[in-house]
Amino acid sequence: MLYDNHGRVINYMRLAVTDRCNLRCYYCMPEEGIDYVPRADLLTYEEMIRVVSVFSKLGISKIRITGGEPFLRKDLMSFLGEISQLPDLKKIHITSNGTLLIDKIEALRQMGINSINLSLDSLDRERFFKITRRDDFPKVMECMDALLAANFEVKINMVVLAGQNTEDIIPMLELAKDKNIAVRFIEEMPFNGTDGKGNVEFWSNQKILQTIQEKYPSAKKILDPKYSTSANYQIENFKGTFGIIAAYTRTFCGSCNRIRLTPQGLIKTCLYDGGVFNVRDLLRAGASDVQLAEALKSALSHRAKDGFEAEQRRFQNPVSESMATIGG
Ligand code: GTP
Ligand code: 5AD
Ligand code: SF4
Repeated sequence: MLYDNHGRVINYMRLAVTDRCNLRCYYCMPEEGIDYVPRADLLTYEEMIRVVSVFSKLGISKIRITGGEPFLRKDLMSFLGEISQLPDLKKIHITSNGTLLIDKIEALRQMGINSINLSLDSLDRERFFKITRRDDFPKVMECMDALLAANFEVKINMVVLAGQNTEDIIPMLELAKDKNIAVRFIEEMPFNGTDGKGNVEFWSNQKILQTIQEKYPSAKKILDPKYSTSANYQIENFKGTFGIIAAYTRTFCGSCNRIRLTPQGLIKTCLYDGGVFNVRDLLRAGASDVQLAEALKSALSHRAKDGFEAEQRRFQNPVSESMATIGG
């Protein structure tokens, strides 16, 4: 087992396989895109497999593949096939925008991957277009239905954006009436690849909950799974559940079990830190498995206690990264 200096178990790694995306969600990156990592600086699949293999032996048992949009990276399926064979890695999950994966569902299921989180910020085609700057709403809905039909565990991630999609909160919630899904409402964070400033009006987790309770006063808090980012609720007669992720208020840092690996090989021990070491540089300098393990353990022994401390320690202030380079 891996522990950090605050006694927290670390068993979850978020691996961003690419910083590229086919959408342009304005809360994530500017219209013209971001300065993508040059290809030579990206971790190769071979390098990622080595890292995942070493870290899984140390105690990382869950991995979440993120991006950018993970399905944009060439040969992702072969990579997934390889890591799905690693004996110490128990769970592989994926977070995707749902535009490129519909024809991969059966192959994913055969690899034992059956849990996907889909980003979907509006149920209205025009608002979807305004937020993502792409007209792909029908594709995402089709993908969601296909995943459900294939019995995948599906979570919907909706970032709540003042002036953009707050009218979607209730309709999005009501998707869980007849569908066995978890709809999660997320506080906006300032990682939009520009000046680090988020919306002028911030929708807090309390405000989101209040909005839901006005319509559904009977919404009941349910037990959250261990290490959950979302505070979860059930509404009577709903097939699915809903949750609220206080990503900016950072109420769940106390049980944080995760590290991140960015496309260019940076290990982050917190979403809000600037990166603590570069695993790609170590690999390319010929590091042994023991050296990789030591680098991780050393990083975990200096870990910030929460996202606020991590943010304070950053060299670069304010935060100007895009979520696509961090992996969400
Ligand atoms: P599960 O593994 O299903 O619990 O999902 P998850 O919440 O860990 O991952 P997902 O990729 O679905 O992320 C949902 C939202 O939570 C995104 O907006 C993430 O940026 C945010 N989020 C995920 N992990 C963290 C974290 O460690 N800290 C903060 N502050 N936000 C996070
Ligand atoms: N604030 C909150 N969540 C964000 N995501 C991307 N950018 C932001 C942001 N600025 C979400 C995506 C995806 C997840 C990995 O992170 O919607 O669901
Ligand atoms: Fe963990 Fe940092 Fe996220 Fe808090 S903000 S849950 S410490 S990654």
